[in-house]
Amino acid sequence: TNPSEVSWLGTPISELKRMPECGEPLSPLKDVPGHHAVMIRTDLLKKDKVPVPYPTRFQDAWNDVHVKMPCSSRNLFPIEDEVKAQVSLVLSKVLEPDAAEHLFESLLPDMVQLALRASELCTKPIPLLKAGMNHSITMSQEQVACLLANAFFCTFPRRNSRKMEYSNYPDINFFRLFEGSSAKKTEKLKTLMCYFKSVTEKMPTGLVTFTRKSLDKPPNWKSSQTPLTKLHITCEGTIEDDGYGMLQVDFANRFVGGGVTGSGLVQEEIRFLINPELIVSRLFTEALDHNECLIVTGTQQYSKYTGYAQTYQWGGSHLDTTPSDGWQRRCTSIVAIDALQFRNFLEQFRPDRLNRELNKAYCGFARPEEKSQNLAAVATGNWGCGVFGGDTRLKALLQMLAAAEAGRDVAYFTFGDSQLMTDVHNMHSFLIQKNISVGKVYDLLGQYYNSECKNCLGRRPDVSLYSFIYQQVNSSLAPDDSNMGSARQ
Ligand code: AR6
Repeated sequence: TNPSEVSWLGTPISELKRMPECGEPLSPLKDVPGHHAVMIRTDLLKKDKVPVPYPTRFQDAWNDVHVKMPCSSRNLFPIEDEVKAQVSLVLSKVLEPDAAEHLFESLLPDMVQLALRASELCTKPIPLLKAGMNHSITMSQEQVACLLANAFFCTFPRRNSRKMEYSNYPDINFFRLFEGSSAKKTEKLKTLMCYFKSVTEKMPTGLVTFTRKSLDKPPNWKSSQTPLTKLHITCEGTIEDDGYGMLQVDFANRFVGGGVTGSGLVQEEIRFLINPELIVSRLFTEALDHNECLIVTGTQQYSKYTGYAQTYQWGGSHLDTTPSDGWQRRCTSIVAIDALQFRNFLEQFRPDRLNRELNKAYCGFARPEEKSQNLAAVATGNWGCGVFGGDTRLKALLQMLAAAEAGRDVAYFTFGDSQLMTDVHNMHSFLIQKNISVGKVYDLLGQYYNSECKNCLGRRPDVSLYSFIYQQVNSSLAPDDSNMGSARQ
């Protein structure tokens, strides 16, 4: 066969585990003060019925550990007609005349009504997920929709400038989306309006859980005897389409959602646009620290898209058929992990940087409370290697180590790069064949830094990471055929 026709290598994707098939039944959903805030009546939860908010009456908590709500009696921030006027102006330019008419007659008024129901729908104070907290929030898709309608109308108090108490939180109010008139913003707005149209016409009935998690004790990478897990690698498809039911990686910013409410439009922002319920995490998730991640389970995909970055276009509405779990959440788990941004190529090979990226990925992937056999594969790709400037071959290896340590297989999407697919597959097969453990690979990374990177004075190393690994392993295990590995390069 023609090598250019090869679209995947390694383990067939059908052999990797997905939710809901691989998971164990969930324990009953329960509010646990200090650990899990559940904003609905769990006793009344019923399939295909919009969940009932809990408690019955709005509880105002205008303090520094909860979200300050637009409907609070303490809120002196006026809901300005000005905002509405600006929104109308922008949207009327964006839309075809028919769509514009529908917008003003029906969609915007419905969104206003939804936003105004905050005190009836979001009755329980929403805890802020602050740095270092291990805490979950479960709310209904209806509650999320109400909060997002408020974000659209920019009604969250204290959130229109990042100078004050929320300086370490992402933007939530959408005002930046209405600034300027770039084609990118137009396509973003179309994508979001598709979501609002869908939820105002027929309210979805599921729940969504947001979990902030920090890694208290990083693994001892050096001494790990763990073998690598399975790898499926492909140059076709995407994390969101082909990784359904897997743990899907969001190539995040430490402010989750990155530039979604502004001008950013790469992997993370696109995911937040097609699954807009992710955006509500920006309301309560403080910037992620080095040892932290955010896991979001249950969001729905409302839109399709084509293109990427400058060429991104809304691709019409999407019917999400993902099955739900025992808590009425779609079996879509997305983990936000923010890579380091590198301006200098060599820097990423420094041991402290390697540790940081390994621990970040491990924090995202590991579920120590669950058995490995119940864990879905990780669906990932060139994490940290676009806007953030990382090296794909290094990052692929680091993610394989973290996934192995977490007891998960990997589905890796190279986003069109078939050379990368071949190189990573060859490296993975080689390491498996030679029985090289996580700890040994970690050691080789350290050696690579010491012997090839340290004294480079800013130039790129003469020997690539993968050539170095082939050479070292071959010369230590079989001095006689030390050419074998390098011949593969
Ligand atoms: N599926 C698989 N791979 C993809 C997909 C997809 N749907 N989309 C893109 N890629 P980037 P980063 C590949 O630059 O470097 C955001 O603003 C593609 O090869 O989004 O970690 C965040 O908020 C692409 O080049 O991630 C952060 O601020 C590569 O993934 C910042 O970008 C990296 O995508 C993070 O930048």
